[in-house]
This record gives sequence, C-alpha cells and structure tokens, in this order.
Amino acid sequence: MICGGAGYIGSHVAKSVAEAGHEPVVFDNLIAGHRWAVRWGPLVEGDLMDRGRIEAAIREHGIEAVVQLAGSINVGESMQDPGKYFRNNFSISLNLLEAMDATGVKRIVFSSSAAVYGIPEGNPITEEAAKAPINPYGEAKWFVERALDWYTRARGFQCLTLRYFNAAGADPDGEIGEMHSPETHLIPLVILGAMGVRPPVKVFGMDYPTADGTAVRDYIHVRDLARAHLLGVEYLARGGESTAANLGTGQGVSVLEVIGAVGEVSGKPVPYERFARREGDPPALVAAAVKASQLLGWRAERSGIRQIVEDAWRWSGKARREGLYSE
Ligand SMILES: NC(=O)c1ccc[n+]([C@@H]2O[C@H](COP(=O)([O-])OP(=O)(O)OC[C@H]3O[C@@H](n4cnc5c(N)ncnc54)[C@H](O)[C@@H]3O)[C@@H](O)[C@H]2O)c1
Repeated sequence: MICGGAGYIGSHVAKSVAEAGHEPVVFDNLIAGHRWAVRWGPLVEGDLMDRGRIEAAIREHGIEAVVQLAGSINVGESMQDPGKYFRNNFSISLNLLEAMDATGVKRIVFSSSAAVYGIPEGNPITEEAAKAPINPYGEAKWFVERALDWYTRARGFQCLTLRYFNAAGADPDGEIGEMHSPETHLIPLVILGAMGVRPPVKVFGMDYPTADGTAVRDYIHVRDLARAHLLGVEYLARGGESTAANLGTGQGVSVLEVIGAVGEVSGKPVPYERFARREGDPPALVAAAVKASQLLGWRAERSGIRQIVEDAWRWSGKARREGLYSE
C-alpha cells in the first residue's frame, strides 16, 4: 500500500513497484495528489487520520507492506502553522502504525528528509550526523523516525527510513511528473520561469561560500528514488533489519548550475532574479550516499543534472499542453 501514492514521488514509486510485478494499492486523500497519477493499481480515497478506513483497506487488499509518503510538504508553511505539520506528518503516521499493528502488517518504508539534520556541521552528511531539525516539518519527520524505532523494538516492526535529499525530474516515459501547488521546488520553478508560465525564478543568496556563490543541493532523480523504495520493500521482505539511509547522489549542484542546465536543454538563456539569502537555508546539503547502495544494492542511474532537467522539461511541456498547471 502506497500512502501518498497519488503525489509526485508516490506515483513514481507505484510505477516501479508495478513494473516489478507487485500490485500497488494507493491510499491518498487527494488533498495534494492527482487522480491522473494513479495508473498502476487501485486508488483507495481516504485520509490517514481515519484509522478504520486504513484497516479496511489493508484487509480488503491483502496488504503485505506499506510505503508511507503522505503528508504536508511545505517547509515555509510549517513555520507558520506547526500544528498542521505535527498532525499531517506525525499524527497520521502514528495512526497508520496503529492500524498496521492491529491488522498484523509490520513492514514499512518511510519517506523522511534531509530536514532532520537541520544545518549540518559538514558535508557530505552521514546517517549518524546530529539530528537537529530547524523547522516543524523536519521535526515531525524526526518524531516519526523515533516512533518507528519504538515500534521495531516493542512491536516487532521492520522499518526502513529513507531520508531524501532533493527529489527532481520526471518519469522517463513521460507518464507522470512533478505537480505541486504551490510549487516551491527549484527545478520546476526554473523550468516554468523559462517557459514563461511563471515569473522568472528567484535566486536567494549569491554570496554563499560555494564555488559560484549560490546554494548547493543534492538532486536525485525521482525514478532512482522510486526504485530505492521497491528495493527497500524487498529488503524488508528478506528479513532486513530496521534502519535509516540517505537517498542522494553525493554530488552537490548549485542553483546557477541548475539554471545553466535548463538553459542548455531549452536552448536559450533562462531569466532569474537575485535576492538576499533566506534565513535557515544552509549553503550546502550533500548526502553521504554509500549506505543505501550497500544495504539495497541501489545506485543512482539517472541523477546527472542534465538528465534530470531533460526529463523534467519534457514533462513540463506535456503538462502545459494538457492544461494540468491550471487544474
Ligand atoms: N519532494 C522532495 O524533494 C522531498 C524531499 C524530502 C522528503 N520528501 C517527502 O516525500 C513525501 C512525498 O513528497 P511529494 O513531493 O511526492 O509530495 P506530494 O504532495 O506530491 O505527495 C503527498 C501525497 O500525500 C497525500 N496526502 C497528504 N496528506 C494526506 C493524508 N492525511 N491522508 C492521505 N493522503 C494524504 C497528498 O494528497 C499527496 O498525494 C513527503 O512525505 C515529503 O515530505 C519529499
């Protein structure tokens, strides 16, 4: 069961899982997800606050394992409305764990985030680095991770936590892709700015201690990310121990490099506006990516920035032609 499977990353996970011969059942309240993105198995339209509905779905579909991607994802909003983030990240996940326990399903892969590390002491960031979230979004993810640890110890759960860095790109076949509202992620913002669908992208901070002065992040192709979830479910089915692993590439890419890649793919210079640094944005966030490959036999295959941008560009063009941005 893919909770949040109508969303950006969850729909790619559903596709990877289906390609491997499993049947993904999507559980999603469609608050931010899309009916068009559920294509590889049934959709149970429900809210993770509704424990009865989760238990019924688990029983009806004979669920063997759960991937939990559902939740609210806007870090800035979490600073304005922390309650929403503790409810719609932590409380829903706790409710899900209770429903799983009651129905005897004990395998879960959980979407966590680099946000649990806060402002790291250095890069690359290993899984053992201090957990010091600087916003309610990251704190709620960390609360879920702590709860998973106790469900492992006390209730015999097997839990694999995947801490994503920056998910980006789109399905190489063009069937699904990124569609958030509001959009806060850099690559779609640069692309939509270049297409003239949105104003030029805002670059916050040109004076960071990085090679070109702009912030550096670790972008991972959503297809690579999705495959790691499939391998994660298989790892748990083999009896794998509960643990947490970063999902990134180990390579940092700056904001200006992203803008340059979009310029190359589009064939024309990309407009952008310069702004001061935003509070709480670290200069660089780059994953130590060794653990996921050792644990899962996983490798990022499509995560070069040029490939990510090409796939995202193609998807944005298609989404624009089909009127999905005005939905
Ligand atoms: N996109 C990234 O770069 C990134 C980075 C780190 C972590 N993550 C995490 O990955 C997960 C997926 O992110 P995404 O970008 O695909 O977001 P998304 O908003 O596209 O998908 C989230 C899905 O969860 C559903 N949902 C939300 N609350 C729900 C509830 N109470 N009950 C049922 N369904 C609910 C939404 O309808 C949506 O389909 C999130 O947990 C996010 O925090 C994402």
